[in-house]
Amino acid sequence: MKFFIDSGNIKEIESLVPLGIIDGVTTNPSLMAKEGGDPRQIVKQICQLVKGPVSAEVVSTEASAMIAEGRDLATIDEHIVVKIPFTREGVKAVKTLAAEGIRINVTLIFSAVQALIAAKVGASYVSPFVGRLDDIASDGMGLIAQIVEIFDSYPYKTEVLVASVRSPMHILEAARMGAHVCTAPASVYEASLKHPLTDIGLKKFLEDWEKSQTGKK
Ligand code: E4P
Repeated sequence: MKFFIDSGNIKEIESLVPLGIIDGVTTNPSLMAKEGGDPRQIVKQICQLVKGPVSAEVVSTEASAMIAEGRDLATIDEHIVVKIPFTREGVKAVKTLAAEGIRINVTLIFSAVQALIAAKVGASYVSPFVGRLDDIASDGMGLIAQIVEIFDSYPYKTEVLVASVRSPMHILEAARMGAHVCTAPASVYEASLKHPLTDIGLKKFLEDWEKSQTGKK
């Protein structure tokens, strides 16, 4: 399963890239608004750092404006994936942009039928938001199971990108279901890198080793 970082923060991305586990990045207008600076330049820098798919989201809401914005975003870098919200207008825009060979991530997916429609119009990725469903006492991971099941029955190339991930448990469940990608904040990857039993075990190994060396020098 591919790991994307859900962030527009260069420092966060820079700190995880050297581990060799990060395959791409997703951004959204809220994340970019937190960063300040020129969003185009930031996204370009992210592309150069990650050298993998980087989702940049349109802020237009009408199909022809989304199409123009999407075409423009796609010129920033070869790694750009244009992110388009699942709306009626968005679906029209995806159809046109995907036919031009521009990779599209359809975002704000909250039902399996939305995911199916996005796949039909040629999305490269669909982003179901699991955390936001859990937040309203709905079953985020249940939605992933439905989408994976549907996509398994048809020859769509669309990848299931599990978004709005809140914890390592979401990553675990997504991997068990065979989702193609997870996008998570850097903090979730940091949490996944730690295990108290690993720390306790390593401390003991090193103490035992040190003890065995006493008197040998
Ligand atoms: C996905 O691409 C979105 O940027 C993101 O996962 C939203 O997550 P949130 O619900 O934590 O804001």
